[in-house]
Amino acid sequence: MSTNDKTEERRLALQSELDGEKTSEDRNRMGQFATPTVLAREILAHGVALLPSAEKIRFLDPGIGTGSFYSALRATVPAKRIERATGFEIDPHYGEPAKALWKETALTIRMEDFTHAEPDASSKANLLICNPPYVRHHHIDAAIKAGLQHRTEEACGVTINGLSGLYCYFMGLSHKWMEPGGVAGWLIPSEFMGVNYGRMLKAYLLKKVTLLQIHRFDPTDVQFSDALVSSAVVWFRNEPPPRDHAVVFSYGGTLSKPKISRAVPASELAHEPKWTRYPQAEKASVRAEITLGDLFDIKRGLATGDNSFFIMSREQIAERGLPMECFQPVLPGSRHIPVDEINADAQGLPLIEKQLFLLDTTLGEEEIAERFPKLKTYLDTGKKGEKPVSDRYLCKSRRPWYAQENRPAAPIICTYMGRSREGGKPFRFILNHSQATACNVFLMLYPKPFLARAAEKNPAVMRAAWEFLNDIDPDELLGHGRVYGGGLHKLEPKELRGFPAEGLIARLPELEPLDHQLVLFDKAVA
Ligand SMILES: C[S@@+](CC[C@H](N)C(=O)[O-])C[C@H]1O[C@@H](n2cnc3c(N)ncnc32)[C@H](O)[C@@H]1O
Repeated sequence: MSTNDKTEERRLALQSELDGEKTSEDRNRMGQFATPTVLAREILAHGVALLPSAEKIRFLDPGIGTGSFYSALRATVPAKRIERATGFEIDPHYGEPAKALWKETALTIRMEDFTHAEPDASSKANLLICNPPYVRHHHIDAAIKAGLQHRTEEACGVTINGLSGLYCYFMGLSHKWMEPGGVAGWLIPSEFMGVNYGRMLKAYLLKKVTLLQIHRFDPTDVQFSDALVSSAVVWFRNEPPPRDHAVVFSYGGTLSKPKISRAVPASELAHEPKWTRYPQAEKASVRAEITLGDLFDIKRGLATGDNSFFIMSREQIAERGLPMECFQPVLPGSRHIPVDEINADAQGLPLIEKQLFLLDTTLGEEEIAERFPKLKTYLDTGKKGEKPVSDRYLCKSRRPWYAQENRPAAPIICTYMGRSREGGKPFRFILNHSQATACNVFLMLYPKPFLARAAEKNPAVMRAAWEFLNDIDPDELLGHGRVYGGGLHKLEPKELRGFPAEGLIARLPELEPLDHQLVLFDKAVA
């Protein structure tokens, strides 16, 4: 067992001893419920990951208790990375023994009421983690409440509604304790997300800071104790929100592996009174103004019915004596496409090692027999055997059975199934300069006519679109897709269509302002 684990064991023993000496009414009144170790460590790991990896940590817990978060911090990063750590505790019953427990470490415990404390330049934090006291408003004396409201407004510019619990004031007051760019993680009841009195707190989260993520635990999940049934962890960074900001709403599972997660544009959150509907809500009640579906027709690639029958290499075509004119180039699977930009030769063939071709002709069998007897012989092999290719569901529905769906090459394609790799992207957007079409392991993005026209005039337009897609934060994109077991992410055409694309319009000055209006117009008449 590591030294940190041993100290955590001692802290847990101390915590239960101190809890045992208090009545539950007393603990209720002061909001004294400790965070379980697993959860504390999960929260700290998440918070630390939001900071630049080399940055020293200046830690603050405004209601530290025996120090579950500080203990978790020590278990997460090497001691030398902790430049300083501060905790506030109003109750000496917890504060004094905690001071003794941590006396050899970087933690300073201030035995004070946090709601009255004032920071100086050297006491601000870049990592603020807190499970604040959950004291309901009717347990807060009216005069004290008025003072809290006043000080909180001074600290963060927002007036907290009088029906709010103490934790709302804690959050607002903490604003002045955060370094610019610092990160905060708050373990709080999720009720503020759906009730009227939470409005001002939500306004703070949307306007004053960059709200990164709100994760809610699944009440049926037994991982955490009952006290956390309705809890959420709210993450934000102390900097103004960027344009086109989207917030990740996640639910269930753990912070690092939520069961569901979805990015919701901040512009939508501003109009949505019930944040509790995320991330489950299939459709936002207020739609983003312009989405990728307004700029591109997004379709799944070709389903051939049998790739091994219809797709072949140039050598196979030659060996079988088949006519090249009945084939069109098709891209191989993404693992054979090493870079995200496919260049082409003068004929439009993709400059990649594995060149493949798709059998695709609308000529009737009689004409084929006459003009290309070897192709007729090959097609006949597809009608034989136990499970003839021509009898497959997809082939049967086509006339003739070997003709393919109409899917010309698309200038941008996207892999839509993938696993998130460490720091990597689960989905790839590929800029395709070739005339090769693609199979249904890709989504194909065809520009709408106005965008195609603009791209024809200026090829930089399509590159800008591709760069925009590549700059999308994977988490935002994942929020629009689905997560399957084992971390497999899948993005349906419909989900990609719904992704906000105002940011792309902004990057395409050629489109402003006339085409921007055209998009809106097309949308209105659609
Ligand atoms: C919910 S507990 C969390 C304790 C610990 N951080 C944890 O997560 O296990 C909140 C703590 O804040 C303390 N507290 C309550 N009001 C406070 C105040 N005004 N100033 C500082 N601490 C306060 C309580 O005594 C309690 O220890």
